[in-house]
Amino acid sequence: GAVGLAQNFSAIRALATEGIQAGHMTLHARSVATAAGASPEIFDTVVERLIESGTIKIWKAREIVADVSVQSRPGEIGGGVKPLDAEGAKAGAGKIILFGEHSVVYGRHAIAAPVELAVQARVHDCEDGVHLVVPRWGVEYRLHQQHEKRRSFEKPAGMILDKLGLNDKAMRIEVYPNVPRAMGLGGSAATAVAIIRALDDHFDLGLTEERVNQLAFESEKVAHGHPSGIDNTVATFGQTLLYRKGEPSLMEELHIPHKIPLVIAMSGVESLTAKMVARVRSAWERNRDLYERIFDQIDALTLQGLKAMQDNDLQHLGELMNINQGLLNALQVSCWELEELIQIARENGAAGAKLTGGGGGGSIIAVCPDGTSNVVKAIREAGYQAMEVEIG
Ligand code: MEV
Repeated sequence: GAVGLAQNFSAIRALATEGIQAGHMTLHARSVATAAGASPEIFDTVVERLIESGTIKIWKAREIVADVSVQSRPGEIGGGVKPLDAEGAKAGAGKIILFGEHSVVYGRHAIAAPVELAVQARVHDCEDGVHLVVPRWGVEYRLHQQHEKRRSFEKPAGMILDKLGLNDKAMRIEVYPNVPRAMGLGGSAATAVAIIRALDDHFDLGLTEERVNQLAFESEKVAHGHPSGIDNTVATFGQTLLYRKGEPSLMEELHIPHKIPLVIAMSGVESLTAKMVARVRSAWERNRDLYERIFDQIDALTLQGLKAMQDNDLQHLGELMNINQGLLNALQVSCWELEELIQIARENGAAGAKLTGGGGGGSIIAVCPDGTSNVVKAIREAGYQAMEVEIG
């Protein structure tokens, strides 16, 4: 009862302040999902699929609850539910960084791989205004036409529309993220790529892949300040890459002869890449020589890591990842939960483990030459989410 009243109240507020569209559809879908008995673990998925289906009705919600409950595997990232394949949607890939996060911002090499968790987006015509809807995150707002009046979370999508000359068109942009937010898995770049591709498709813009990547990079600059460009590049091309920023950037697709078994585990602590990049920058500004030497050491590890991947020497790869983690500690971008995950992974058979992405929270990766099951089990027993992936 209280939740229902609170929802009505916020719907009235949204009506009063932002007009009838804003906040309405997501709220309605949430009420319908509640009425259909969606449990907390599958609630966001049910809301998302209801909106995607275009039929926000209790019978539909019950069908979705039944379907999603069968698929759900607790402890797996994304609840173990099959990623949504929204009809007509376009995608951007998520990513993990194996070596070189942060130092890549300072012109050193990094290695990144796409993860199957992708973000999807699609565009529909609507009567007026630009509406951005992310059901899973309860986000639904009308974009302000004047960019100086946009709130920070509106800015990346707003910038894309401005650059494409579309901000006076009426549309609803729906975004379906399968990458958890702020978990170091490239969600913001994947979202940008998915939105750009959906706009390209809907308005028949004929964008090349290079242009998609370039626009996503511009969007990352709005979101992060000083991105290296690695996240948008993997989100666009979906390949395992050796990357170094520059004019032009080095983007070498890697051919890894044998599959490398990895575990991705999430700390559950949300962290903003922008904040961590800014923290490293201010430390670097205070002591450039010291930090440049750390970046050089990470660069050398990255190139050795590349060789270990190509030689399928997973013990050595793990050792190099552990040392990279030591240097990320030197940059002070780890946190208590990440360290716990790393220790659990190492104690349960991983040859090496490190944080991935911006750090300060987010996720870790662990390389598991003898199989991933013990590591996954131990991580889930400790109350974290984990997922098995293979790269190469
Ligand atoms: C974020 O995924 C990786 C960082 O190196 C930032 C960047 O490269 O833009 C921390």
